[in-house]
Amino acid sequence: MWSEDHFKTSADGQTWYLSLDKEQGCGFQTKQRYRFGWFSMKLKLVGGDSAGVVTAYYMCSDTGAGPERDELDFEFLGNRTGEPYLIQTNVYKTGVGNREMRHMLWFDPTEDFHTYSILWNTHQIVFFVDRVPVRVYKNNNKPNNFFPNEKPMYLFSSIWNADDWATRGGLEKTDWKKAPFVSSYKEFKSDGCKWEDPYPACVSTTTKNWWDQYDAWHLTDFQKEDFAWVERNLVIYDYCKDTQRFPELPEECSLSPWE
Ligand SMILES: *[C@@H]1O[C@H](CO)[C@@H](O)[C@H](O)[C@H]1NC(C)=O
Repeated sequence: MWSEDHFKTSADGQTWYLSLDKEQGCGFQTKQRYRFGWFSMKLKLVGGDSAGVVTAYYMCSDTGAGPERDELDFEFLGNRTGEPYLIQTNVYKTGVGNREMRHMLWFDPTEDFHTYSILWNTHQIVFFVDRVPVRVYKNNNKPNNFFPNEKPMYLFSSIWNADDWATRGGLEKTDWKKAPFVSSYKEFKSDGCKWEDPYPACVSTTTKNWWDQYDAWHLTDFQKEDFAWVERNLVIYDYCKDTQRFPELPEECSLSPWE
């Protein structure tokens, strides 16, 4: 997307490296848009002191930060050496987000590649880490629901400096002496419906595709066990529990991830 000189690949072209220095970060985007499916890639995050650095992997209906955009985010918030990375996920609909969750990971994401995936159909959006569902976001199917399911989305990945907020709420600043900061990517996979105009292409009412079928409308029993473990042990922040921020919780917060 920008600063091509901050982008490199392995000799075989299969692993991609994005780097951030004091001048700029870097990002890439799919040419194609998708509506519903399974989207996945392997990432290895910036090692060592990465405080202030955010690596993101997200889907967005817009190529910029447009006011009407829908978006599904995975953001990896760097940290000082030896301190844990956090992952933040968020959901946007028509330009409005504020649906953050933050989780710890059960491994060091800078040591090895791990798989991060998004399942998206009209019933649920599930964020996975190595096939473990860490977040389940449901559709209440009401007319004014907060569930992005109309606009097709591109896939993006990028690395940038966010030391105004990312690490310990912005207290930890990026140490530019450690630059460049490099994140690595491989095994991109999109098993989704490729969008072609006009609307409503890629409707999710057919059961032609596995991601639209009954089994993908809710977690499997196996996934529920994993999800329960995540809920018990790894959640750092959940907007649905933040009654200070939301005296009245958003409506989707009453939906059960178990159904
Ligand atoms: C960074 O490490 C500190 C100290 O362990 C922790 O409180 C914080 O949640 C970690 N992550 C971020 C993104 O701030």
